[in-house]
Amino acid sequence: MSSMTKSASKAFTPLTIGPLTLRNRFIKAATNEGMCKGGVISKGLAAFHERVAEGGAAMTTVAYCATSKDGQTFVDQAHLSADTIMDFKALTDRVHKHGAAAQAQITHAGAFTFLPKDFSSMKPISANGGFNKFGVMTGRYLKKQMNRADMNAIADEFVRAALNSKEAGFDAVEIHMGHGYLLAQFITPFYNSRKDEYGGTIQNRMKFPAEVLSKVLDAVGKDMAVTVKYSQTDGKDGGNTITEGIEIAKILQSTGAHMAQLSNGLNVESIDTMFGNPLPKSSVKPKSLIIRVGMMLQPKSKEPDREFKQLYSMAPAQQIRAAVNMPLCYLGGAQTMDNVNKVMDEGFDALGLGRALIFDPNLVNALQSGSIRNSGCTACNQCVTLMYTPGGTACVEEGGHKGHAPKLNTTPASAA
Ligand SMILES: Cc1cc2nc3c(=O)[nH]c(=O)nc-3n(C[C@H](O)[C@H](O)[C@H](O)COP(=O)(O)O)c2cc1C
Repeated sequence: MSSMTKSASKAFTPLTIGPLTLRNRFIKAATNEGMCKGGVISKGLAAFHERVAEGGAAMTTVAYCATSKDGQTFVDQAHLSADTIMDFKALTDRVHKHGAAAQAQITHAGAFTFLPKDFSSMKPISANGGFNKFGVMTGRYLKKQMNRADMNAIADEFVRAALNSKEAGFDAVEIHMGHGYLLAQFITPFYNSRKDEYGGTIQNRMKFPAEVLSKVLDAVGKDMAVTVKYSQTDGKDGGNTITEGIEIAKILQSTGAHMAQLSNGLNVESIDTMFGNPLPKSSVKPKSLIIRVGMMLQPKSKEPDREFKQLYSMAPAQQIRAAVNMPLCYLGGAQTMDNVNKVMDEGFDALGLGRALIFDPNLVNALQSGSIRNSGCTACNQCVTLMYTPGGTACVEEGGHKGHAPKLNTTPASAA
C-alpha cells in the first residue's frame, strides 16, 4: 500500500463564486506569460495554461488582456478584441478539456505604458494629467487627465472586453485594480491628487473603479464570475495603507464583486511589496532597452534587501478577512501544504498561486495526492525577468518545470 495519503483539506473542495462553481480552491494567479508576439495569442500560451489546468488548479488566469490597444503596457501583449476571440477560444477549450476554468484578467495600463509614440493616437490617460514619468523612454512625456467622457469610454472598453472574453469561452473576468494600472491610478493617492468627486477620500477615489465593476457585472455577471484584483497596501509612502485596503474591500463587496484577490504593491514603486522580495540583481536581460530601463528602476524599492517569507502578506489579508464577508482569495508566497492549510484556517475562500505554479504546474495534484508537501520554488524571481524575453515566462530553477515555451512561439493558438 502507498504511504501517500490523499489530502482531505478544504482547499480541495468546490467553491462557488457568482454563477461559477470551481472544482477546488486553487487559482493560478495572473503571471503575464509574454507569449503574444505582435498581439498573437500563441499555441505556447495555450499550452502553458493547459498544463496548469491538467495539473489540478481550479482556474487559470490569463494575463494581462488589455481592454484596448491604448491600454497595453507593451506592444507584444494581448488585446481582448474581436480579432483575438478565436485564438482565446482555442486556449479556453484546452483548459476546459481538463475540467478547469479560465479567467481573463482585463486591464488598462493608463499612464503606465511603454508603447512607442506611433502605436496609437492617444496620449496616455490617467486620473491626473501632466508629466508622465513612465513615458520618458518612449516620448510620451505627457498624460491626459480623464474627463467624464473618457471615463464613459473606458468603462465601455472594460464591458466590451468582458463580452469578448465570454464569447472566447472564459468562465470569469478579473478586473485589474491593483499594481499601478489605470484603475489603481484612481485608487491610490500616490497617483491621484484630483480635487473633484474622483479624488480625495478613498470613497471618491473608488468611484470610477466601482463604476467599471458595476457595468461589467451588469453586462456579464449572470453568466460569468466577475472578480477583482487589487493591492491591499501600496507599500509606498503616500500610497494606500491597510486602512484604505479595508475600505476598498467594503466597496467591492457592496458593489457586488464575486470575489476579490488580495494582491500587494505597485509595479514600479514597490515591487518588493508585490513579491515579498526584490527582483534579482543579476538576471536575464530583456532585449528591449525600454524594458531594461523599466526593470532597472524596480529594484530601487523601499526595502531592497527584504528577504522572502512564505505567506508574506497574511497580516493585512487577515484584517480584510475580518472586515468583509465576500469571497476572498489570499495571494502572496504560498508554497507548501502547511501554507495552504493556514490560508483555509484563516477563513479565505481561495488561494492564488503565481510562482509556485510556474515552478511546477502539477503542484495542486501533487499536494492533493500527498506525493509532495513543499514546492521547490525559492522565489528567486528569475521568472519575472523572463516574461519579456522571446520565450516568455518560465522557470530556470533546478527542479523547476522546463516545458514552457522554450523560444519565440508565434503560431496562433487556433492554427491547425
Ligand atoms: C512572471 C510573473 C508575472 C506576473 N504578471 C502579473 C500580471 O500580469 N498581472 C498581475 O496582476 N500580476 C502579475 N504577477 C503577480 C502575481 O499575480 C502575484 O501577485 C505574485 O507573483 C505573488 O504571488 P506568488 O507569491 O504566489 O508568486 C506576476 C508574477 C510573476 C511571477
